[in-house]
Amino acid sequence: MPSPHAEVFFDTQTSTFSYVIHRDGNHSCAIIDSVLDYDPKSGRSSTDSADRIIAYVRNNQLQAQWILETHAHADHMSAAAYLQKELGGKIAIGEHIRHVQKVFRDVFNLKEEVTPDGSQFDHLFHDGEKFHIGVMAVTALHVPGHTPADIAYCVEGLGVFIGDTLFMPDVGTARCDFPGGDAHTLFASIQKILALGDETRLYLCHDYPPDHRQQQSCITVQEQRAGNIHVRDGIGADSFAAMREARDATLAMPVLILPAIQVNIRAGRYPEAEDNGVRYLKIPINEL
Ligand SMILES: [Fe+2]
Repeated sequence: MPSPHAEVFFDTQTSTFSYVIHRDGNHSCAIIDSVLDYDPKSGRSSTDSADRIIAYVRNNQLQAQWILETHAHADHMSAAAYLQKELGGKIAIGEHIRHVQKVFRDVFNLKEEVTPDGSQFDHLFHDGEKFHIGVMAVTALHVPGHTPADIAYCVEGLGVFIGDTLFMPDVGTARCDFPGGDAHTLFASIQKILALGDETRLYLCHDYPPDHRQQQSCITVQEQRAGNIHVRDGIGADSFAAMREARDATLAMPVLILPAIQVNIRAGRYPEAEDNGVRYLKIPINEL
């Protein structure tokens, strides 16, 4: 019986998991939450992380059918556009990316450059939408809260790629203080994920392990319900939201939020080059 497989890639700079999903005996694959390496000190990007994914896809004779984003990440740049150039495939994200684009178009004053209609992506998923990776059935689940546009991808026979919702039980949950984020909304989204059944495997977007353990990319619903420090069984919406909001008020902005968001709302593309042939990113002063 051919089995579905998630190949895991970990970016140590941003603690991000990227995945290539495919099934034995089938050439189609999907890439979830890829990383374009970026050094904020020099403004230099590189494709080392993405090239590891490309090598895996090519070495296994896979064809990229989908390049999926769980959301517009604030902590790393997406390599979606680069991967598409190298491998093909459709770049897709949740339909509420339009809302995120609208907010950040205003923050960055990108009136001419970014139309907030999602057209930068090849496909926008709505809640409950079903699609396929080769012969594998996938359902897109809208799980807002961290941002308004988060999507979890439920892959039949494999598990759920939950983006920034739950982290490992000893780390807790995603922050909700970016524009359009909301702690009560995240709590409701997490309940949707936890209702998928105790044995359901959850594939994380990040892990920030304490010193005594290795990073881990996958965990069951049951383990989250038993031990997640923020949302284990018995913790209600109001106490979660109060905890989340108090904690978010203490968190610094992610190092790459300003460069990353500008690229990620464009589906992983840089702004057009100026008349000297150089591409520039903007830094809004006193806006975030
Ligand atoms: Fe995120």
